[in-house]
Amino acid sequence: MSEQLGVVILAAGEGTRMRSRYPKVLHRLAGKSLLGRVIESALQLDPARVVVVYGHAGEQVRQAIGNPALFWVEQVERLGTGHAVQLALPALAEMDRILVLYGDVPLVCERTLHALIAAQCDEDLALLTVELEDPHGYGRIVRDQHDHVAAIVEQKDANPIQLSIREVNTGILAASGRALARWLGEIDNNNAQREYYLTDIVALAVRDGVQVHAIQPESSCEVAGINDREQLAALERRYQQQQASALMRAGVTLRDPARFDLRGELQHGVDVEIDVNVILEGRVVLGDGVRIAANCVIRDSEIEAGAEILAHSLIEEAVVGRGARVGPFARLRPQTRLAERVHVGNFVEVKNSTIGPASKVNHLSYIGDSEIGARVNVGAGTITCNYDGANKHRTVIGDDAFIGSDSQLVAPVTVGSGATIGAGSTITRDVPEGELTLCRASEQRTVLGWQRPVKRRE
Ligand code: UD1
Ligand code: CA
Repeated sequence: MSEQLGVVILAAGEGTRMRSRYPKVLHRLAGKSLLGRVIESALQLDPARVVVVYGHAGEQVRQAIGNPALFWVEQVERLGTGHAVQLALPALAEMDRILVLYGDVPLVCERTLHALIAAQCDEDLALLTVELEDPHGYGRIVRDQHDHVAAIVEQKDANPIQLSIREVNTGILAASGRALARWLGEIDNNNAQREYYLTDIVALAVRDGVQVHAIQPESSCEVAGINDREQLAALERRYQQQQASALMRAGVTLRDPARFDLRGELQHGVDVEIDVNVILEGRVVLGDGVRIAANCVIRDSEIEAGAEILAHSLIEEAVVGRGARVGPFARLRPQTRLAERVHVGNFVEVKNSTIGPASKVNHLSYIGDSEIGARVNVGAGTITCNYDGANKHRTVIGDDAFIGSDSQLVAPVTVGSGATIGAGSTITRDVPEGELTLCRASEQRTVLGWQRPVKRRE
């Protein structure tokens, strides 16, 4: 039988330093909650069980995370990390090996955790430790004359010599289920904080003559904990920089890697160019040679090869076809599909609509719930009146139609292929193919001798 891995995620901290109405672990880093990230890392290890130890606001956390496969254990009184793990033990009774993670240490990598787990065999203990320039606040790793880990001493319990140690405990560790239960049964709260320290199991392991392995992460980002909003912002920046570096190594041009944010996953082709202040969210696909100008936000969308997004555009749940051009100042809302070579220009909003190859909507328009064919020209200021106050209706425009500027198309309505609509028309009935249709309130007239009003003097 294969070994059963249990993961316990400690998340009962109040997070008072966030000064927030929301539990700390629900604050977001690069678009995902801190706890959500830790759970994702845990699940990558294929564990038999994941237990989250939560404190107050448990219902809120549970709902936000919404994963029915997790086990939730409430820690009513925060009596320390050792106490928290102890509460999780009944749910982990069958587990051969237990991995302890922290809900507020969001960036730990699968690779590092694999190394930690691999180091833990039999009743050995494996700790994730890191050397810090400034170790203040952390538990120090005390080693014996053979350089073996002998104990962890908390900041508040440490003597001056111990305080000078720069190797610190990250809190993340792997232990055998059986040994962990035994050691936790022995710890007390006889220390400066009157807490049951999980870290006290290290001295017990040494006493029992088992090995204590210390594994280091690749980057210190992986073990950075979040206590306040400054730390959250600092870690977000470091993470964004790492992502930016990885993208540049993979062939993406970033005009300024310090002004680029990826809050999700980017799949990209070759020679993609991204100008400053671009935010990509969710799942974004950018094809070969795609160019994104400054200040664009793109969420859950696909931009096909050679397309260009001009400055200040917002694109959500949309597909932009090959060689298309969008913006500046364009807004593509969910369920927008632009075919190849479509142009959508400034101050144009498109929602739940398909626009066919080489069609143009260049200025100041609203296109909603529409199906537009190929090579259509939609003039400036055209509005599809898709909403009657109760229901949405569709507008269908055939290939090669020409919609004069400032027209309103009152849906449901169909404009035939090759039709022309005169500027300023309010179209309420279907328009035949190939003909000119227009609708104006009256004939144009000129009032001869009309005088402009002049400003009155007091
Ligand atoms: C802990 C470690 C310390 C380590 C540091 C790394 C102990 C005794 N000390 O110290 O060696 O350097 O983390 O950040 O373990 N938690 C609970 N219930 C509790 C107490 C804590 O769930 O009763 C959770 C917190 O939400 C947090 C984590 O455990 O996610 C760590 O708690 P915290 O109080 O921040 O531990 P430190 O004192 O920083
Ligand atoms: Ca503490």
